[in-house]
Amino acid sequence: TKDWNGVDQIVLRNPQGASARVSLHGGQVTSWRNDRGEELLFTSSKAIFKPPKAMRGGIPICFPQFGNCGSLEQHGFARNKVWTIDDNPPPFHPNDTYGKSFVDLLLKSSEDDLKCWPHSFEFRLRVSLSSDGNLSLISRIRNVNGKPYSFSFAYHTYFSVSDISEVRIEGLETLDYLDNLCQRERFTEQGDAITFESEVDRIYLSSPNCIAILDHERKRTYVIRKEGLPDMVVWNPWEKKSKAMMDLGDEEYKQMLCVDAAAVEKPITLKPGEEWTGRLELAVVPSSFCSDD
Ligand code: BG6
Repeated sequence: TKDWNGVDQIVLRNPQGASARVSLHGGQVTSWRNDRGEELLFTSSKAIFKPPKAMRGGIPICFPQFGNCGSLEQHGFARNKVWTIDDNPPPFHPNDTYGKSFVDLLLKSSEDDLKCWPHSFEFRLRVSLSSDGNLSLISRIRNVNGKPYSFSFAYHTYFSVSDISEVRIEGLETLDYLDNLCQRERFTEQGDAITFESEVDRIYLSSPNCIAILDHERKRTYVIRKEGLPDMVVWNPWEKKSKAMMDLGDEEYKQMLCVDAAAVEKPITLKPGEEWTGRLELAVVPSSFCSDD
């Protein structure tokens, strides 16, 4: 299908009726629905579906830089590029057997990218939907350069929540975090599960590979599993910042929460020919559940 700007989108469906939508613009997942047709990812009503910016919502890919500490534009250029589909994707790796509904998107460094970031790469993003409706994103990034280089990365995931004041995150208690609101100063999280009553913009370091977002009102828990991505970014712009953002409604911060599996504090370094894999798997269940931690 085409999206609002004429860029191709791919729709994945499983036999139970769950679905996911991926745009070639940015390789961005723009929708994930359960088998009842309920949308699980947030999209702003003011989202702009037009290059050269990422649409506000879904899962933009931040690569090769997360944030604005670096020489590149905020969150890197991958989210602003038009990706291609690989019509002949390699077979599933035994660890990647999430079902038959998947698509592989590719991004390679263009002449333009090489001017601002002179490191050739091949990026393969596999998005798949399992028979139980779980959404999985697997990124494989290969260094096709003659020299080593480093990058940071995030799956900038906008979850749809009933009311930000009513949700909590479990799994990040007692971790160290860098506070983006204080020049990335380092703090230690105290006490209980994380709740929200003001702007939050933090990079939790060396986080567990399974964490949960509990939404009481909707009786819904998002389970986030990750691999190869040590950090977890938590962001909500709250009232003042929302008002300053053109592509976010003034009150919409209440319905969204970004929790991003990421590699920020310690960038990933690839030698020539080397490949890195970063996985994200999202599930939605009736209650808190992280079985393998
Ligand atoms: C978050 C960052 O991940 O993304 C925030 O931690 C940033 O600092 C936010 O404001 C949104 O970024 P952008 O470029 O999509 O508006």
